[in-house]
Amino acid sequence: MSEKKVMLSGIQPSGDLHLGNYLGAIKNWSARADEFDCYYFMADMHTITVRQNPADLRRRTLEQLAQYIACGLDPEKNTLFIQSHVHQHAELGWVLNCYTMFGELSRMTQFKDKSAKHTDNINGGLFTYPALMAADILLYQPDFVPVGNDQKQHVEITRDVAQRFNNIYGDVFKLPEPYIPKTGARIMGLSNPDSKMSKSMPEGCVFLMEKPEDIQRKFKRAITDSDTENCVRYDPEHKPGVANLMSIYSAVTGKSFEEIEREFEGCGYGKFKPAVGDAVVETLRPIREEATRILADKAYLESVYHQGAEKASYVANKTLRKVYKKIGFVAR
Ligand code: TRP
Repeated sequence: MSEKKVMLSGIQPSGDLHLGNYLGAIKNWSARADEFDCYYFMADMHTITVRQNPADLRRRTLEQLAQYIACGLDPEKNTLFIQSHVHQHAELGWVLNCYTMFGELSRMTQFKDKSAKHTDNINGGLFTYPALMAADILLYQPDFVPVGNDQKQHVEITRDVAQRFNNIYGDVFKLPEPYIPKTGARIMGLSNPDSKMSKSMPEGCVFLMEKPEDIQRKFKRAITDSDTENCVRYDPEHKPGVANLMSIYSAVTGKSFEEIEREFEGCGYGKFKPAVGDAVVETLRPIREEATRILADKAYLESVYHQGAEKASYVANKTLRKVYKKIGFVAR
């Protein structure tokens, strides 16, 4: 095995990927493969804590995998797999359930939010979700877990559970650190520049697979600012809409804010917005085409997730055996 530090992250295939996911996270992943031993999985087991349409779940899981590859995540350099294909997740998840406290789980923000949102389906899985997530992580003994801010609490509980387990049985688990990447832009909604771009606000959200004309329309309608200045200037506090468009333009073209200000000097928003739209369309075009091509190549996609699951199971199994032995299960 390599000497590289290990990194692991899971993504729920519960929605279509968008520009915020791409510029904020995925785009930077491919570069990490040289430095880290990276595992990325589709967290399908987590999605069913909220009711899913089976056909949609299946389609999205494969689409996301295809899109990740299209975004530059090389399956030869990264371990890409589907969570439910690696049964050790469910197994360690059960064990860790027995080492995770009711009180701890009750304090989880995501549980509180989701149970408030889905009052008709506050199920046990939604409550014990952090124990499964801890298993997802600890199976691979990662050094780092790249997550958004909303998931930091889950990495913290993972560390607490791992520590508790280690205190009883000796050093079984490595304690992972949350990894908040330095690079990566925080992209806000086009129609709501004060909150993160999100699929729940589809008018302000540009999806990776969206048609160019739809993307253009969304940029043309993007909220700029209520000021009368009509000038492309980076001022996130007073001009959050323009600042967001500048961040997007900068992320896709590599231009600095000063260069952008110069480029659009005297132009006004009417010219700026479609220019950002064009740049985004051209950035997403090859990704969309490549993802479509990969998705149509079922044999290839299958080989990727087979190979990923095989590699992941091998690593996960080592940890699970150790855990079973420590807690007193008879070896098979
Ligand atoms: N809970 C994460 C989310 O909702 C997804 C996830 C599941 C995850 N297991 C993980 C992330 C393990 C990092 C590591 O986004």
